[in-house]
Amino acid sequence: MTSALYIDCCIRGEQSRTKRLAESFLAAYGAREDVKIERLTLMDEPLIPFTNGFFWQREQLLEQGELDHPRFRYAHQYQQADRIIIAAPFWDLSFPALLKVYIENLCVQGITFDCNETGGCFGVCRATKMLFLTTRGGALEGSPMDNGTKYLGDMAKFFGIPSFEHIAADGLDMGLEPVEDILGRAISRAETLAATF
Ligand SMILES: Cc1cc2nc3c(=O)[nH]c(=O)nc-3n(C[C@H](O)[C@H](O)[C@H](O)COP(=O)(O)O)c2cc1C
Repeated sequence: MTSALYIDCCIRGEQSRTKRLAESFLAAYGAREDVKIERLTLMDEPLIPFTNGFFWQREQLLEQGELDHPRFRYAHQYQQADRIIIAAPFWDLSFPALLKVYIENLCVQGITFDCNETGGCFGVCRATKMLFLTTRGGALEGSPMDNGTKYLGDMAKFFGIPSFEHIAADGLDMGLEPVEDILGRAISRAETLAATF
């Protein structure tokens, strides 16, 4: 059985086109008998960025080797999944800050990555594939200004996940083509990928 972790950062909820893309993928993927999907809805989680006390608590726990502290539950959950699926819209040339806060909580030495004696770091996550599903207002596919896809691809490498793919519905707010046409193409690519992901 393949265990997949679905990370939902579609902040606009039922109005989100990214959520429509993701749910289409998940419906096809979840229909597979060899796949079990666990959902994590970031909007429902008590995620906070590192502030003074929250930062120092982490340093102290790491120093004491207390990796079973509840604050590290996101890192353990991420580390143990066979597949990672992230859905988030394109916001401000990247993705919503909530996803960055979640990633900040994932990067825990001894859980999702480790370092050797010469200071080199390497990922220790179990997953072999990571998928990013997104929708964008403008035409950013392949653009150096798409910092979201670039950054998540780099994070996959950092976590030791060898395969990173993304599917985007691009240019949804440009008015050049009906939204349903663009979204429909992305959905059909996502449904096709679900058979082999
Ligand atoms: C806060 C915010 C920031 C956005 N920033 C960008 C941007 O930098 N570039 C862009 O092309 N579209 C931007 N958009 C448009 C969204 O990428 C686009 O509407 C997307 O489909 C929204 O996804 P959703 O329907 O899943 O919420 C932004 C939208 C919002 C609400």
